[in-house]
Amino acid sequence: MEDIAGAGGAPLPLAYCAKEMMPALLMSFCGRDTLKQHLSRGASCGGFSLEHVLSLALRVTERLQDLHRAGFVHCDLKANNVTLRLDAERNVESVHIIDFGLSARVWKRREPRQRPRNKPWCCDCRYNGSPLLPECDLPGLGMILRSLFRDRDDVPRRLADLAERCSSPSHRGRPALETVRRCLAAAPSAKRPREDEDEDEDEDEDEAAGVAEGTLAQAPESKRARGDAEQGARILAH
Ligand SMILES: Nc1ncnc2c1ncn2[C@@H]1O[C@H](COP(=O)(O)OP(=O)(O)OP(=O)(O)O)[C@@H](O)[C@H]1O
Ligand SMILES: [Mg+2]
Ligand SMILES: [Zn+2]
Repeated sequence: MEDIAGAGGAPLPLAYCAKEMMPALLMSFCGRDTLKQHLSRGASCGGFSLEHVLSLALRVTERLQDLHRAGFVHCDLKANNVTLRLDAERNVESVHIIDFGLSARVWKRREPRQRPRNKPWCCDCRYNGSPLLPECDLPGLGMILRSLFRDRDDVPRRLADLAERCSSPSHRGRPALETVRRCLAAAPSAKRPREDEDEDEDEDEDEAAGVAEGTLAQAPESKRARGDAEQGARILAH
C-alpha cells in the first residue's frame, strides 16, 4: 500500500502493529459506503439517474486507470472494493479503490493453482501463472458496470455491450480501458454545462482541439464530477 501511494484513491497506510496474535493496519478513511451499498440504497429509493450512474462508472474507470498507470493490477476489483465519500447532500465527493490484499505489480506472476468457480471478476491469469496485466482488471470492471446498469432500459446499447465484453475470457476479447472511458464519457445523457455556467465557445473549441488520446484521464478525479460528461462530448465531436 505504501508503494501504491494513494493511486486509484487507495487508502494511505498510517501505522501498523505487527503483533502475531493481533496484526493491525491503520489507514486513511475512504468513505462509509461501498459502491455496492450505494447502489442498493439507490435502488431502494427509486433508482439513480442515468447521468449519475454514468458519472460513477467514469469515475471508477478513472481510478482504475490511475492505479494501472502507477504500475499495479488490483486483481480483486468488484463493487464492494470500491468506496465513495459523500458530502452532506450525499453527492459523491470522491471514489476510491480499496482492498489491495491481492494486488500486484504489473507483470508479476502468481503460482498456478485451481481456479475457484465463484470469482467471475478474477482473470484466469491469477490462477494459471500468466503475468498479471492491466487487462486482468477488466472482468471486475465489467461486473461493476453491469451492476450499475442492472434493470435499466436507458443504457446505450454500445455501453452495455462493452460491459459484457470486459468479461471476455481472453485479454484480446476485452476492450481497452480507454475505450470504455470514451464511450462512457460520450454517452447521450452526458451532462451539458448549466446555462449559468455556459463557457465561451471559442475556449471550448480550443480545449476540444487539445483533447488527445489519454488526456481524458488526467484531470484529478475529485475535480471531475461535473467535467466528465462534457469532456466526453467534446472528444466525440472531434
Ligand atoms: N480505507 C477504508 N476506508 C473506508 N472503508 C474501508 C476501508 N478499508 C476497508 N473498508 C471497509 O471494510 C470492508 C472490508 O474491507 P476489505 O475489502 O479490505 O476486506 P476484505 O475482508 O478483503 O473484504 P472482501 O473479501 O469482501 O473483499 C470494505 O468493504 C469497506 O466497507
Ligand atoms: Mg474487500
Ligand atoms: Zn489476465
